[in-house]
Amino acid sequence: MRTAIISDIHANLEAFEVVLADIRDRSIDRTICLGDVIGYGPDPCACIDLVQEHCEFSLLGNHDFACLLEPTNFNPIAAEGSYWTREQFEPTGTDTDKAATARRQAFLHLMKTYALLDDDRDFLLVHASPRKPLSEYLFRDDVQNTSKLAHAFVSMPGAYAFVGHTHVPGVFSAELDASGQVSVDSLFEFDYANELEGPFDLDLAEGSMRYIVNPGSVGQPRDGDPRASYAILEQSGGCPSVEFHRLDYPAKVTCRKILKETRLADRLGKRLLVGE
Ligand SMILES: [Fe+2]
Repeated sequence: MRTAIISDIHANLEAFEVVLADIRDRSIDRTICLGDVIGYGPDPCACIDLVQEHCEFSLLGNHDFACLLEPTNFNPIAAEGSYWTREQFEPTGTDTDKAATARRQAFLHLMKTYALLDDDRDFLLVHASPRKPLSEYLFRDDVQNTSKLAHAFVSMPGAYAFVGHTHVPGVFSAELDASGQVSVDSLFEFDYANELEGPFDLDLAEGSMRYIVNPGSVGQPRDGDPRASYAILEQSGGCPSVEFHRLDYPAKVTCRKILKETRLADRLGKRLLVGE
């Protein structure tokens, strides 16, 4: 089974279309989305429609929540962006197709905050972190914050978790402590996706390892690499593995839309050109 795991599309249609085309070319069995389908970008309606068409399901991200209900702890640019986004898919919004509007709203309302892939407790899916599915950022430097990472790993029901939210692709690993538990004495590492060569084996090493995988962001990468990011989970054969992919897309087109066709802040367009 090969599963494309995508996250943080952020209403970036140009990036999403390139990722979907790449997924089509790679004999993928299914695609799942970890949330933040909308917010920040210029094409929320088209991206919701494509997620409905191509993804088995999508989780709820904090920006989906913000656009649908209310922004929580957002900076002014993000909050204003969520209000503009909401206008696009409300019944009084720019799209006069009432059936499409109702379908998009229903889709957003039914998003879950977490899921188990194939009902398998070893494969947790959340938008942000296992401990706080909508809000907690797990950054690379958090490998030094052993209390924070121990809490994140302890909150997993099994061996693996897949998260988005930071827009930085990579793999956190925890080597359990002497008593075989995740604790502050465990050894935590982060492997940055762009430094990996080939697939990363999610090897449990006789039960002493746990992993948290972040596929990066389709529509607003923040690791200094402006290319769209996603991951493929391979579950055929022995231990599962994950492979990261980066794809060029016409970011200038998306940037120009943000600057010329929306009330979104210019910064939201310009950051796409540099991936930060
Ligand atoms: Fe996001």
